[in-house]
Amino acid sequence: MHQRVFSGIQPTGNLHLGNYLGAIRNWVGFQDRMETVFCIVDLHALTQAPDPAELRQNIREVTAAYIASGIDPKRAVIFAQSRCSVHAELAWVLSCHTPLGWLNRMTQFKEKAGKDRENALTGLYTYPVLMAADILAYHGTHVPVGEDQKQHLELARDIAGAFNRFYQRDFFPLPEPVIFGAATRVMSLRDGTKKMSKSDPSDYSRLVMTDSADTVALKLRKAKTDPLPLPEPGQEFEKERPEAANLIGIYAALSDQSRDEVITTWAGRQFSEFKKELTDLAVAVLGPIGVEMQRLLADPAAIDAVLDDGAARANAIARPIWTEAKALIGLPPG
Ligand code: TYM
Repeated sequence: MHQRVFSGIQPTGNLHLGNYLGAIRNWVGFQDRMETVFCIVDLHALTQAPDPAELRQNIREVTAAYIASGIDPKRAVIFAQSRCSVHAELAWVLSCHTPLGWLNRMTQFKEKAGKDRENALTGLYTYPVLMAADILAYHGTHVPVGEDQKQHLELARDIAGAFNRFYQRDFFPLPEPVIFGAATRVMSLRDGTKKMSKSDPSDYSRLVMTDSADTVALKLRKAKTDPLPLPEPGQEFEKERPEAANLIGIYAALSDQSRDEVITTWAGRQFSEFKKELTDLAVAVLGPIGVEMQRLLADPAAIDAVLDDGAARANAIARPIWTEAKALIGLPPG
């Protein structure tokens, strides 16, 4: 089976360190080894009721973040989801193979819908079906994401399996989640039990990819810790000290070390000192990316040209697969 990487990010603003360490950074290396398709999932963003002008800007911002992080638009396909109608069409077909019970299990829906389930939008509910369509439309085989997307990917595999069984053909490859690195789940800087997220009301909860060096320093200085020094090797501390565990994970990811290596180096030392070095590391890694993003964003026409080219190439992959799927289903061609 042909190997193809597919992944995506919602253009909902506030791209943060978790998006970078959990996803984008891990995409870069695949470009040398496989065909890669990286999507800006603008249809998914509609579940957050975005302001139209902000949505337009955020699509460009995610595009700039991909390129500034080392995704090469000449090799990888970079495109906006809404530019290829196969996503939405295939999502409908797949929803006809997805039992309600499977969607009812999705923890992300439960978290986002909150208590007022009656008023939660059906788009939010069927969000994972569209995500499955994104991947399957390209016969995606490898999907590098952060840990929070694992359940959605298991669902995508189940849906692909249900479709294949119904039509008695191995039509869709079962996509593999690829979750690796020391920071597959970056937590909030204010609360080590909450995921770092674009929608947290506190700006201090996340490092944003375009933060200046001063802002990074300020946010890390204010980052929550406990009064104890850094843990000793072999010590169990992750559960009782989630903030400490989070900063150690971030440090490890930014310096390309394992958590154990970081703990061995820093055992017994003070967090104030650790945070200073963490700031230097974060500025060294994120600084050039943020600067490059701003440079790219100053030329929106050039970004739009990348997205035009990406849309043409995305359609060139997805259309023939969709045509074949329609024939299999018994839908008229065209
Ligand atoms: P989104 O936009 O919420 O996040 C984009 C990517 O960033 C990862 N991520 C994190 N990783 C580590 N720590 C964190 N705190 C953190 N927060 C976010 C996510 O795991 C993700 O990889 N449903 C997806 C978008 C999507 C998609 C797809 C992904 C739509 N279709 C098809 C892969 C394939 C999402 O909401 O990502």
